[in-house]
Amino acid sequence: MYSVNLSSYPISAVAQRSYSDLTVLPESRRPIISYGPPGRHAISGRVATVFGCTGFLGRYLVSKLAKAGTQVIVPYREEDEKRHLKVTGDLGQIVSLEWDMRNEEQIAECVRHSDFVYNLVGRDYETKNFTYGAVHVEGAERLARISAQNGVSRFIHVSHLNASEDSPSAFYRTKAAGEEATKKAFPNATIIRPGSMYGHEDRLLNSMAFYPILWKLNFGETKFAPVHVMDVAQALSNMTTISLPSQTLNLPGPTTYTYNEVLDLISAMTHNPPSRAPTVPKSIALFATKLAQYAWWPLLSPDEVERKFLDDIRVDRGDWDILNVSPEHIENVAIAYLRRYRSA
Ligand SMILES: NC(=O)c1ccc[n+]([C@@H]2O[C@H](COP(=O)([O-])OP(=O)(O)OC[C@H]3O[C@@H](n4cnc5c(N)ncnc54)[C@H](OP(=O)(O)O)[C@@H]3O)[C@@H](O)[C@H]2O)c1
Repeated sequence: MYSVNLSSYPISAVAQRSYSDLTVLPESRRPIISYGPPGRHAISGRVATVFGCTGFLGRYLVSKLAKAGTQVIVPYREEDEKRHLKVTGDLGQIVSLEWDMRNEEQIAECVRHSDFVYNLVGRDYETKNFTYGAVHVEGAERLARISAQNGVSRFIHVSHLNASEDSPSAFYRTKAAGEEATKKAFPNATIIRPGSMYGHEDRLLNSMAFYPILWKLNFGETKFAPVHVMDVAQALSNMTTISLPSQTLNLPGPTTYTYNEVLDLISAMTHNPPSRAPTVPKSIALFATKLAQYAWWPLLSPDEVERKFLDDIRVDRGDWDILNVSPEHIENVAIAYLRRYRSA
């Protein structure tokens, strides 16, 4: 039989791989062995499934989980949408599985070996195949129920800061209904409510820089608390190491601004003159959404117009401390995402 003589290896190489750790997961009492050097090549022994991994928040969460040595199951609908995730983890650490939100067998396959399941699935607009209710309520309930049936220890459901059952926006109402459905199906689920997120591929700063007219609705006076996507991803990833009672955690940005204030910030950072976009009355904006629906790609939905008139729900500091994250102020990091809008 082939055997390796360790004495022939440099000491540093042997020492690097020598430590391992036996831990018992507090929720499931399942023993896991973590080993390897800290960082990307670590094996934490944990397995997490991230539904919605192909989206904006998903890519950063998968990367942070994989960097901490967690094996990540990445369910995808379209082959090309998950390709970039493969390289975020060490060999064999990112496992992709095809799934359909209405296929219970595929969902079970995705969560069967997982300790943690994250539900990041959401959509800003309705499509021919999926209404808000189908995605935010029925879909969320299905994921939570099947996870509970398969012995998953922690279910983390990402909702929205403004989720409310009596909101004028159907998006926010279904987000609130989704929280209830999730808690019913998985009583120990943790609900995370982030504010509007910004980052490289966001639909916030990029949209404000490209289409300021959309953000001048309500005279640009709507108040919101933008939050850095990296902070939310870090908070979600920290949940694999923090033992939490089931609860709802709000993650707003550290400061509240009006749309006008952020448009001014963008103009200062991009060295472009302040936007002269006019304020369009709500009725005209809603009429424009009727025309926009004839485009085959999503342009603007009536519910998105409605949301532009709703201030963020006020919560004092949010629950960042519980998750060991101190959220960044937009003034400190936005330049990384806005520099590209400077003229040559
Ligand atoms: N972005 C924000 O500012 C913000 C703020 C607060 C809360 N949230 C919530 O946080 C979560 C993640 O946000 P995000 O910005 O990362 O969203 P996103 O970029 O729109 O990504 C949404 C994810 O959900 C998946 N998805 C949507 N509809 C689906 C369906 N019918 N079947 C299967 N998968 C479906 C998408 O998969 P495909 O790639 O296959 O389409 C994608 O992976 C969402 O629940 C969102 O509502 C977002």
